[in-house]
Amino acid sequence: MDARDLVRSVKSVGSARGLRSLRSAVRRRRLDAAALPRRGPERARVPGAAQGAEPQPGGGVVRFARSSLRVRVAAGGAVFCGWDGAEPEPSYALAGACPAVDERAVLEPDTDGGWRVLSERVLVVVDRHGAVEVRTPGGVVLRRDLPPRWWEPVDGRCAGPGAAEAAYVPTKEAEKEAEGVKGPADARAGARWVQRSEVAADARFFGLGGRAAGPRLRDGSYRLWNTDPGGSFEPGDDPLYLTMPVQLVVADGGSHLVFHDNSWDGRVSVREGVEGEGSGHDRPGGCEVRMDGGPLRYWVMAGTPARVLHAWTALTGAPALPPTWALGYHHARWGFGDAAEVRRVVAGYRERGLPLSALHLDIDHYRGHRVFTVDGERFPDLPGLAAELRGQGVRLVSIVDPAVKAEPGNAVYDSGVAVDAFVRDGRGRRVRGEVWAGDSVFPDFTEPRVRKWWGALYGERLARGFAGVWHDMNEPVSFVAFGDPTLPRSARHALEGRGGDHREAHNVYGLAMARAGYEGLCELRPAERPFLFSRSGWAGVQRYGGSWSGDVATGWPGLRASLALVLGLGLCGVPYSGPDVGGFTGAPSPELFLRWFQLGSLLPFFRTHAAIDAGRREPWEFGAQVLEHAGAALRERARLLPYFVTLAQLAHRTGAPYVRPVWWRSPQDRALRDCEDAYLLGDSLLVAPVLEAGAEWRAVRLPRGRWYDTATGRAYEGPGQVLLPAPLERIPVLARAGSVVPVVGAGGGVELEVWEPAQGRTGGGLLIPDPGDGWERPAAVRFTTRWREGRVGVEREGAAEVGYPVRVRPVAGR
Ligand code: NOJ
Repeated sequence: MDARDLVRSVKSVGSARGLRSLRSAVRRRRLDAAALPRRGPERARVPGAAQGAEPQPGGGVVRFARSSLRVRVAAGGAVFCGWDGAEPEPSYALAGACPAVDERAVLEPDTDGGWRVLSERVLVVVDRHGAVEVRTPGGVVLRRDLPPRWWEPVDGRCAGPGAAEAAYVPTKEAEKEAEGVKGPADARAGARWVQRSEVAADARFFGLGGRAAGPRLRDGSYRLWNTDPGGSFEPGDDPLYLTMPVQLVVADGGSHLVFHDNSWDGRVSVREGVEGEGSGHDRPGGCEVRMDGGPLRYWVMAGTPARVLHAWTALTGAPALPPTWALGYHHARWGFGDAAEVRRVVAGYRERGLPLSALHLDIDHYRGHRVFTVDGERFPDLPGLAAELRGQGVRLVSIVDPAVKAEPGNAVYDSGVAVDAFVRDGRGRRVRGEVWAGDSVFPDFTEPRVRKWWGALYGERLARGFAGVWHDMNEPVSFVAFGDPTLPRSARHALEGRGGDHREAHNVYGLAMARAGYEGLCELRPAERPFLFSRSGWAGVQRYGGSWSGDVATGWPGLRASLALVLGLGLCGVPYSGPDVGGFTGAPSPELFLRWFQLGSLLPFFRTHAAIDAGRREPWEFGAQVLEHAGAALRERARLLPYFVTLAQLAHRTGAPYVRPVWWRSPQDRALRDCEDAYLLGDSLLVAPVLEAGAEWRAVRLPRGRWYDTATGRAYEGPGQVLLPAPLERIPVLARAGSVVPVVGAGGGVELEVWEPAQGRTGGGLLIPDPGDGWERPAAVRFTTRWREGRVGVEREGAAEVGYPVRVRPVAGR
């Protein structure tokens, strides 16, 4: 029991929930102790010497004394490496069937006794001992994966395929490593393994899902286990709700993404390299992936960041396109007392002329916290309320938690029991946990039949008038007085018919729940794109919806973490997310609230939210000045809607996140690579939020080219650092010279806002018209800007007329 556990268990004594979570923790521990085998003596295994290779379409298999490695280049250029016979499928991450191979890529002997596979994007070189280098086609080494190592029980209970093949004499080093290492092992688990890699000395690491300490992942160890930190989190807390084994590595020599397709508990440790400043003694960067079980298989894709994200979302699925209304502003709160309070809040926005797109109802609108119910006393006519708000342009969004109160008579529980929907323990009893509604059971979303049943339940939400859903507590959380606040590791899951336990299913639980919800909504309301966002998830969750920060602690560090999370998730293929504006806990100062609001207004998912015992978050609760400036941010967000629609479409079509690190187009610029306090919003805008108290100026690092401060029209030249005014009324937003930004014009239609190119240069922009909330796929419209006879002109690709009003923004000094 660690200190945090101790505090939790002391707190729990005395309340009914506390006692139940104490019981739950004890039960959890007992179940695991009985069902999971104890760790016995183990031995380490490494691949050994290469013995031969078989070319196959797209690559081939290299055989080693005690393992084998399959290299397979997919048609889009992504490379798959699978050790010990691991294949790309089955996989929760892949969007559909494994992509076809690139027939032109073939394994061939390399000069020093190894093998190589050359493809359009990368050259993979496998040496005689099992080290794998991924190089650019020109030969620059992007990463070098050292031969992996597995640990297996000596009694052979979980021997991997290679173990039986050869008598193995461990090296001294391997023996030392294997001593005293703790972790689970059973027959189904396969071996624990570790893989170390080297990257360039100048490389930077990003990704691993939503990390509060990011976006740049500094030296440290990051756990891969979706976790509710409990209460709230700060930048130092790790892991959080949505982890994934996806690293984006950016270096002078090129960028690449590596994805270890394994949902088990694990850790990624990164260590940035050190450059020898011309001495020739660089220390390379290093990374170590250590997993408690499951296959050692990974995908690598290389190229520019844009190409890498394109390849990643081609593999794991296009990010779902939110309905257009979801790109507006949302207000949420845990603890709206009743329908009258909801009406009051909505009226507050309306009366002040503040645009509001959606209002979210949290668990307190349920009857006794039971999912898919409504407290009829406090919300007597929810469909009526929803219709009334809809008439004012405001949609209702409902929270959906996975835990179901275990109580005969509760319709969801009864129907779940009838279809055998709930997770069971090793002895076949339903696993009980403690969540908001009390004693609860958990649907097994890794069973297709259960997803179908669960998805159909969303019909009740639609009938109540809800327009979208918010998945919460789906790590999944079960309150415990000590230990891991989730299901027992020994809990059984279907895993699509393969069968397994929670050690493998835990990290994909939220992903599978998102699939159930998304598919259910598609079936129930086929004409509309679902709106779904989820606290937990895994690689591929973007296919079903977005995410949000979870319970970020109110404070300046929390504001900074909000940006880190959005950037990090975007680089893992999840482009639609945002924080609880104002922070989840306590009461932000007016200044902090405003700065958070200003940042939130320029992030994809813009929502205020707070805990039941936290202060209010309506912008008018913070005084006249905040109201005025927050109002301006809200109106600007509404004006930028066509730009956000375009960015959403681009994310869906190309995988490029709306919110991109400033190095997105120039990853070789090292100073940009280390810049974490600004971002690009699409190609045209650069946003520099104020992240500290009392600041009225912002030092901003600019990428190459000319940039205009959109508030003053003043031009700044990049690359380099500039100082920009950041008075309370606004945060600096810069426009790239030559860009065309689609906005809402004075007449309410789309207008093109144009920022002049530098003399002698051209620029451009893109508009993807609003498809509404259905599935239509509008064609992209491309514009070019150029100087013509002393004036800035706009041309539309393939058409004689621009077709939209154009407004050239005045720039200073002209
Ligand atoms: C935890 C979520 O992160 C938070 O947003 C929500 O308000 C509470 N659960 C209550 O449902």
